[in-house]
Amino acid sequence: MKSPWPAEFARIPDADWAVAPLGELALKYDTVEGHGWYCNLDRTVTDLAAYLEPHHRLLDYSGGTGILASRLLMEVATRGFGILIVDSSPKFLRLAVDKLGRQERMGFRLLRYLKKEKRLQSLAETVDGSLYPSAFDAVVSTNAIHLYYGLAETLRSWWQALRPGGRVFIQSGNIGLPYMPAGSWIIDETVEEIHRRAREIVASQERWSAYRAPLGDPSRMEPYDVQRRKFFLPVRPIEHYLSRLEEAGFRILEVTHLPIEAHVDQWYEFLSAYHDGVLGWIGGSKRIEGRGPTAEAVEDRLQILRDALADIFPNSGSFRAIWTYINAERPEDL
Ligand SMILES: C[S@@+](CC[C@H](N)C(=O)[O-])C[C@H]1O[C@@H](n2cnc3c(N)ncnc32)[C@H](O)[C@@H]1O
Repeated sequence: MKSPWPAEFARIPDADWAVAPLGELALKYDTVEGHGWYCNLDRTVTDLAAYLEPHHRLLDYSGGTGILASRLLMEVATRGFGILIVDSSPKFLRLAVDKLGRQERMGFRLLRYLKKEKRLQSLAETVDGSLYPSAFDAVVSTNAIHLYYGLAETLRSWWQALRPGGRVFIQSGNIGLPYMPAGSWIIDETVEEIHRRAREIVASQERWSAYRAPLGDPSRMEPYDVQRRKFFLPVRPIEHYLSRLEEAGFRILEVTHLPIEAHVDQWYEFLSAYHDGVLGWIGGSKRIEGRGPTAEAVEDRLQILRDALADIFPNSGSFRAIWTYINAERPEDL
């Protein structure tokens, strides 16, 4: 198989993050691979498999622990396209290297957070000059675009990364829609509902009385509201994404919405990794109070999280979430 990369390209950079021990949160995140709701990737895998040719290069922006890349390589193992995973999390990217680094077609680049400048590196600062601009045939972003603070700049950098005629494949379960089928959820909006139910549970059940103090004090609760919205950002409407794509120079080719069934148990598993963000006010958060919760408080927090989910989804082991898929292209130069 001919390498998709230029001769001088170092697939795995010689950097600390690439050889660091594997991190617990990354390993925990990676278990979503086995969750039913991660069938949200199926449509994207199908679209990419239909589009990519053997000599192509795919930029997997926010590729995380490499779940999409693994699935795509399983689907079309013998087609020799290259995949460059770019991500802002050194720990997630480290796990991706561990899983996929032996494959010659895989490359990895970290978008470092520049503390002094309070921003992430751009693609131009991270990807080799031989590949940026214009060396990619497609950019994919799964389960991540709703997390981008600098959406407009990010989309412009994707446009630059692509050759004229190249494609963008975006999907997320956290894009706001003007119409939602009855009983359906934007998946992260369950978090606000869990918080509301948890307040009621703590206020009404005597056994949780030790956690009531912040409930009556908005000044104590507010930092937790802010923290929760940092972990699970307020949902932006679809028009926001489509307008930014067009402003960056893309032509929208297709917008699709699909129902994805999420098992409540698996959604609990996922959220339990972020319990500090979801229900930090139960037992306190180190980021806010300067000291973390006791082991017992964490146990209680997780029990209240389970109870809140059981309240929201009574008599049903699953709920329906709506995922949005947007395909666009960088038009050919005229
Ligand atoms: C929910 S995970 C999804 C990972 C992977 N694409 C998937 O579908 O499994 C979100 C990913 O986006 C990355 N991320 C968050 N903010 C980002 C940003 N501003 N730029 C690039 N990546 C970002 C995170 O590090 C994480 O790997």
